[in-house]
Amino acid sequence: MIAMDSDIKNIESEIDRLREEIRRHNYLYYVKDAPEISDEQYDALFDRLVELEEENPEFITPDSPTQRVGAEPSPEFRSVAHTLPMLSLGKVTSVGEFMDFHRRVCDGLRVPVDTSIRYSCEPKLDGLAVELVYENGSLVLGATRGDGFTGEDVTQNIRTVQSIPLKLRENHPKVEIRGEVIFPLEAFKQMNENRIAGGEEPFANPRNAAAGSLRQLDPKITSGRPLDAYFYGFGSMELSGRISPSTHKEELELIEELGLKVVKYAKSMDGPEAVAEYFREISETREQFPFEIDGIVVKVDKIGYQEILGEISRQPRWAIAWKFPAQEKVTLLKDVIWSVGRTAAVTPVAVLEPVELAGVTVKRASLHNEDQIARLGVKIGDKVVVRRAGDVIPDIVKPVAELRTGGEKDILPPEKCPVCNSELVKEPGDVFRRCPNVSCPAVVAESLAHWASRSAMDIDGLGPKQIEQLLSEKLIEDPADLYSLTVEQLVPLDGFAEKSAENLIKAIENSKERPLEKFINALGIRHVGETVARLLAERFHSIQALQNASEEDLVTIDGIGPEIAKAITDFFGNESNIELLEKLEKANIRPIPPEEQKSERPLRNLTFVITGTLSIPRNEVKRLLEAAGAKVANTISGNTDYLVCGVSPGSKITKAEKLGVKKLNEEEFKRFLLEKKVDTSVFEAE
Ligand code: IVH
Repeated sequence: MIAMDSDIKNIESEIDRLREEIRRHNYLYYVKDAPEISDEQYDALFDRLVELEEENPEFITPDSPTQRVGAEPSPEFRSVAHTLPMLSLGKVTSVGEFMDFHRRVCDGLRVPVDTSIRYSCEPKLDGLAVELVYENGSLVLGATRGDGFTGEDVTQNIRTVQSIPLKLRENHPKVEIRGEVIFPLEAFKQMNENRIAGGEEPFANPRNAAAGSLRQLDPKITSGRPLDAYFYGFGSMELSGRISPSTHKEELELIEELGLKVVKYAKSMDGPEAVAEYFREISETREQFPFEIDGIVVKVDKIGYQEILGEISRQPRWAIAWKFPAQEKVTLLKDVIWSVGRTAAVTPVAVLEPVELAGVTVKRASLHNEDQIARLGVKIGDKVVVRRAGDVIPDIVKPVAELRTGGEKDILPPEKCPVCNSELVKEPGDVFRRCPNVSCPAVVAESLAHWASRSAMDIDGLGPKQIEQLLSEKLIEDPADLYSLTVEQLVPLDGFAEKSAENLIKAIENSKERPLEKFINALGIRHVGETVARLLAERFHSIQALQNASEEDLVTIDGIGPEIAKAITDFFGNESNIELLEKLEKANIRPIPPEEQKSERPLRNLTFVITGTLSIPRNEVKRLLEAAGAKVANTISGNTDYLVCGVSPGSKITKAEKLGVKKLNEEEFKRFLLEKKVDTSVFEAE
């Protein structure tokens, strides 16, 4: 009897020890991001605990690390009242508006406006607000914000978030901790790819993914989602053996000591100017955060001041959200037009009621293809959510079904080519309808624009407008015709003078000697873009050799599969393409094979200026450019050739525009470097 008692005592204390140990490693791994033991060692501890608990179920407690995903699916979420309301934040979007907030703070504290108030600033996480309640150190409740007074009890799902401890590192009678559950960006992208591949609806954005995951009735599903959580404040608290924090900074420190993740990059600073600087810094590094942020939150640091300032209409007077310009807006989908591209694919383009989005007026958005329209279920006349991510053409995220009036119309794809009226064809397995007319004016014009583009023959001054004119004046029919144009033919055309006509003829002449890979890209072979063109140039060294290659030869190239191979041989099997190639040869187009391209110091004589934040440090970019023979200057002048623009570029951009200096965003810059055969592996290392 006595022996058994002590056995049980031993088991109990082993369980306790294991739990303590596992909690510590969870903390090191998930919160501190600094594990001390290997996954195998961790698994061994965890498995031992599971074993002991299975043998002695009477010792299982809800705060055991094994009990994260325990519960059965619940039929619905229970409502819970917050002890203290979860306030919302007022917002500002400019320095001026922020200064108004600062003025209100000073007024409220009855101090002069030039008083250097201490502010605590942190990124504003774009996730889902939650409150955790710990009693005697154990997590007893996890709730959503709801309307601020009452939220939903999502405890079972909160427990599956690995970085949220089931037990705090200090025991206090009661602590309510507030923060944001987020869906990490990388995992979000991956999950959406998987969902699309599996025929499931992707989530519109990481915030929806976080909300959707947290509001899953089955915690097993939530546990499969890599949710994370960061905390920034308290609700009510009863501490033992500690005095309450007296500043926001101390609050964050306490959260950290209790064992939760604190919102990253939080900083305290004096005065509104420093806050404005912080806002700029965070805006510039926004893209580097592993989760979405939509601005910063500025809080008066001293709790005593917060209490004096109080709140007004459910918003604190001591805190404010300073938001980035919106990336998503709702606007009217007025119409859908169908555009014919150089591959003859007919694609839908959304015509929108113009809307300001992240500082740009957006009038058009991409709808990609008919499948996308069906998937979104969008109609003409719908209010739609438009989203700009980075620099790309905006996307339509979804229609706002709640705003439908009943007058919306289905989007019907055309049966005939909107440009030449030919009957469109849709091959099985192709997502696009295509115009079968090889001389369809739209296809011809788009092919010529591609021919002249920078990644192809790079003919400066030959844009869509000039191409349109040359076609309508019947001066050209195909790319080869460009090479017999004369200054005299151009001068009478609208927008041309002697000088600009000469320049264009010179640019066309210069384009006769382009790297082979550019020439291959310029041909517009289906599935052959810059990358494949480079592979082909490196393998075959001439158009003639490429022309003679069989599908079997082609598929031996790493990166070229049967579909691309077939597209290439189809291209060279087509008589009119061969005629074009012969015509080009007669016009003296001499693509330069890779071995003859001068690759040493490919950027000599070029001067670059860099502005904004790039994904690699600026001095690395500088080193890379200089190694390739370029000069890197600090200020824009008449001698500058290119302005490389990162995120949040400065005033240099305006100056560049004034002086007509070419601008390259990071993507364009990388492409430019690739074209010039500059080693870009530093970017890949990121
Ligand atoms: S403080 C009284 N700090 O923004 C202060 N909120 O409108 C209340 N949010 O949904 C909030 N990041 O969850 C604060 N660093 C941060 C935040 C943050 C995101 C969310 C919050 C709520 C909304 C407030």
